[in-house]
Amino acid sequence: MNLQQIIRPNILALAPYSCARDEFKGEASVYVDANENPYNNGINRYPDPRQLKVKELLAPLKGVAVEQIFLGNGSDEAIDLVYRIFCRPGVDNVVAPAPTYGMYQVCAEVNDVEYRAVPLQAETFALDVEALAAKVDANTKVIWVCSPNNPSGNAYSQEQLISIVQRFPDQIVVVDEAYIDFSAIPSMTSQLDKFDNLIVLQTFSKAWGCAAMRLGIAMASAKIISFFNNVKYPYNVNELTQNQAIKVLNDVKRKERHVEEILSQREILRELLLTLPCVKKIYPSDANFLLVKVSDANGTYKYLQSKGIIVRNRNKVQLCENCLRITVGTPEENAELFEAMKAL
Ligand SMILES: Cc1ncc(COP(=O)(O)O)c(C=O)c1O
Repeated sequence: MNLQQIIRPNILALAPYSCARDEFKGEASVYVDANENPYNNGINRYPDPRQLKVKELLAPLKGVAVEQIFLGNGSDEAIDLVYRIFCRPGVDNVVAPAPTYGMYQVCAEVNDVEYRAVPLQAETFALDVEALAAKVDANTKVIWVCSPNNPSGNAYSQEQLISIVQRFPDQIVVVDEAYIDFSAIPSMTSQLDKFDNLIVLQTFSKAWGCAAMRLGIAMASAKIISFFNNVKYPYNVNELTQNQAIKVLNDVKRKERHVEEILSQREILRELLLTLPCVKKIYPSDANFLLVKVSDANGTYKYLQSKGIIVRNRNKVQLCENCLRITVGTPEENAELFEAMKAL
């Protein structure tokens, strides 16, 4: 891939903001460079703009180099940066399957980039690669693929994802793996050294149990990541988040235990819900949620809300008529949901 051709000219030419802490490595005795308050309360200094300690723990876990990692304020920041780095407003376009995670389209609209949605196949939610290809033209900069997909829950095979990355060598293919820890399908991070048009997104918000922390991950070639670093806000990940990330990364076993528990609860919840007459179908899930077709999604949604149970109503979403997206909760939460639906 010729990065000179795909990166926006103004971003290629950008002289990024340089903070004093970028220019100096190591420990000094006096820091009077950044107009901070000198009195130590644990958070009076600016955080590490490159989040090196977090990345040093993350890199071996993900099998990538530190230079191949961007960390942002949730993966939503990475999604927005993809537009700002690659897509010329009012000129370029992106292609994405539908239905999928809504922020790809919102960020396209914010950045004045045309969003070309291509329906997944009805009922199976399989990718229609020929239909995707038909929407790609000379101004297509990015192809979004969410796997496992939100809201359908299915993951695409690694062979299929690789074939997409290979088929569109002049586009950036972003594979959003927010839910990958819940899937048996391996991560596309193993392909990063083979394909320089691939970006893989992951997050601390799901399996790691840290949605409030706001920490998202983009992994790609070191060259692509250097553009993320140039465009991001200098101190985009705060110190509290970095410290908490270091803590959770030192306890991988905890995450693994939670994933195991959620996976077993997912199957228990599926079996329970399938016994209910109002449940018409539950789609296969590689994620921590179930897409559940009911006889009346709007009615069930309102009823559950009146009982203090909040699910996601996907009734208006393409191919998801009468569907609710239900996140797998604790055993107690799942039981409360089931009992409420049983009484409907
Ligand atoms: C597919 C997908 N990607 C990204 C995100 C956002 O993740 P983050 O919390 O890291 O911004 C979500 C959130 O639900 C999601 O479903």
